[in-house]
This record gives sequence, C-alpha cells and structure tokens, in this order.
Amino acid sequence: MDEIKIGLVGLGTVGSSVLKMITENSHKVQNITGRNLSIKTVVVRNVAKHQQEVPEGVTVTDDLTAIVDDPEIKIVVEVMGGVHPAKEIITSLLKAKKHVVTANKDLIASAGEELAVIAKQNHCDLMYEASVAGGIPILRTIVTSFAADYITEVKGIVNGTTNFILTQMQRKHWSYDQALMKAQELGFAESDPTNDVEGIDAAYKMVILSQFSYGTHIKMSNMSVEGISTIQQEDVQQADAFGYTIKLLGISRRIDDGVFAEVGPVLVPQDHPLATINNENNAVMVTGKAVGETLFYGPGAGGLPTANSVLSDIVSVTKNIVLGTTGNGFNNYQSQVGKVDPKN
Ligand code: HSE
Repeated sequence: MDEIKIGLVGLGTVGSSVLKMITENSHKVQNITGRNLSIKTVVVRNVAKHQQEVPEGVTVTDDLTAIVDDPEIKIVVEVMGGVHPAKEIITSLLKAKKHVVTANKDLIASAGEELAVIAKQNHCDLMYEASVAGGIPILRTIVTSFAADYITEVKGIVNGTTNFILTQMQRKHWSYDQALMKAQELGFAESDPTNDVEGIDAAYKMVILSQFSYGTHIKMSNMSVEGISTIQQEDVQQADAFGYTIKLLGISRRIDDGVFAEVGPVLVPQDHPLATINNENNAVMVTGKAVGETLFYGPGAGGLPTANSVLSDIVSVTKNIVLGTTGNGFNNYQSQVGKVDPKN
C-alpha cells in the first residue's frame, strides 16, 4: 500500500495524542484512504525532553528543515500554538508544498486568509477543524450541512478552560484560582492561560466561526471581549440562587449592515440548553433561516478529542491527495466559503 509520511511540529497535549491516535488507529485510516499513514519526524524545542515519548523509528529533532526538506513528508501537523513563529513555519511548509493541518486558532483567526492564499498558490491544503471547539466537528458541519441554508446566528460556549472553571466554582464552590490550576493540570488551558480567562481564545474561535458562517472576516478590534477573571465565588452562587448559571458565551449574528460579534460572561437561565454544558465541554448553537436552531455539543479541549479533529483533517487531505484535488482546503466542501453576501 502507498505510504504518506507525516511531520509533526509540537509534542504537547495535542501533539502526543495525535501521535498516539495515528499509531493506534492506522488500520481504520488505511481502510478509508487506501494509504498507509505514519509520523516520520517530530520537531520540538527540547529534544532531550521528548526523545523517549515517540515510538521507535520516529525522528525527534529541533531542526525544522528535517521536515521542510524531506520530499517524503507530504502532510505536516502544526500543534505548537501561538502566532509567531507558527506563521513563519506554516508559510515555509506551504511554500515547500506540504499540506498543513493545524489546531492553531490564534493564527487562523489573525492570518488564516493570508495563509489560505499561500496554500492555494502552492496547490496545498490548509485545514484547521481542531481550531474551534476541540472535538466538535463544527467547521465541517457548517460548510457541508448548512451549505444551502443562510446562517443568521452562531453562539455558544467555545472555551473549555473557562467552562471548567465556572462549573467547579458553581458545583464544588472552588475558588477561581483553584479551578484554573486544575484546568492547567488537566491540559485544557493554553500554556499561558491569559487568552483563555480573558475571553481572547473564545474570540479567536468566534472570528473563525463567523468566517465560515457568513463569509465575513471580523476584526478582533471590532469585538467586545470580556473574560471571567473578575468573577468571584459569590457572583456564581448568587446567580445560582436566582436560577441562573454564569457562562462565557461567544455570540455572533447577522445584522443589517454586516455581522455583530462579542464574547463575555452571561447569566444563562438554568433551563436553557447552554446552562447544562459543564466542565471542559463546549456547545455551539447554529441558527439557519431554513433549519432553525441546532445545537452541537462535545469536548472543547483535551488531547484525544482535539486529536480526533486533527485526524479528520488528515483523512480529508489524504483523500484530496489520492483524488488530485488538493489546494482548496475547506473550500473543497463549499466553494462559496468567503463569498457569502452577509445581507442575504
Ligand atoms: N485552551 C482551549 C480551551 C483549548 O480551553 O478551550 C482548546 O482550544
């Protein structure tokens, strides 16, 4: 069977789960794609720290050229996070004709359009299902299942760390700091959790969701973004006493002259479906003109759920390689992404 070799950049919570899933589920991926997929090279900052974490035969290096200059490596998974140097790394990978799968919402929200152009120029796919809502296959769902509908609103819980913190504060009466520490221990939070707790991570995801839903790029600077770092135990308990749960919600909707979007803590009535989403789980409510209100629920963070989304992209890219249809990324599903008139 033909082989497709994969490069991995980053070996944190998500990277090590990607490695585990590719190794353990390779037979399933082979059946679907007709190709034998395996990780050949892993690039990390600290080789000594990670050397023992990879199966025999996989090279661990701190030298990106081991991937960029290797003609055998066709697909590269970037899970290092952050805008720089990830942007420069992905740019050089695309220019070297590597297909790229990433979970990097910071980068896609701020430079996704620019990178998509570079990908297209090089006939490469750039896929990023894992960048929004971890294990929920929401981007693919929007481009496929809502292809003929007009989405009027997308809202939900799109940050697992803050949902985990708020759940523990409400149910176990933990302090904010105690709950944050546990979320970091469990690997949900970013290495610097500021983006999680200040709503910035959720805002990045709303930028990407809005792009997919309305074909409109929202600037972060045009959004009101507020996090949960000032919420105290007594706020949570008082809300609870009045029948509300505090949730960090991302909201975006079509308005007359474009799209409105914001992120902030909201008092959600306890009989509303979003109030029942607990721990690191996420939920995205998508409202279409034809279909009405729909709700997608699942783990929003964590190694294996996020790795599953990465693997779904790897399978899509592999199918495109087999069929000779690479170079369109998510646009392969719906050519109008990025071209929808927000007024319609
Ligand atoms: N830190 C993110 C979260 C990880 O808590 O949702 C998944 O994007």
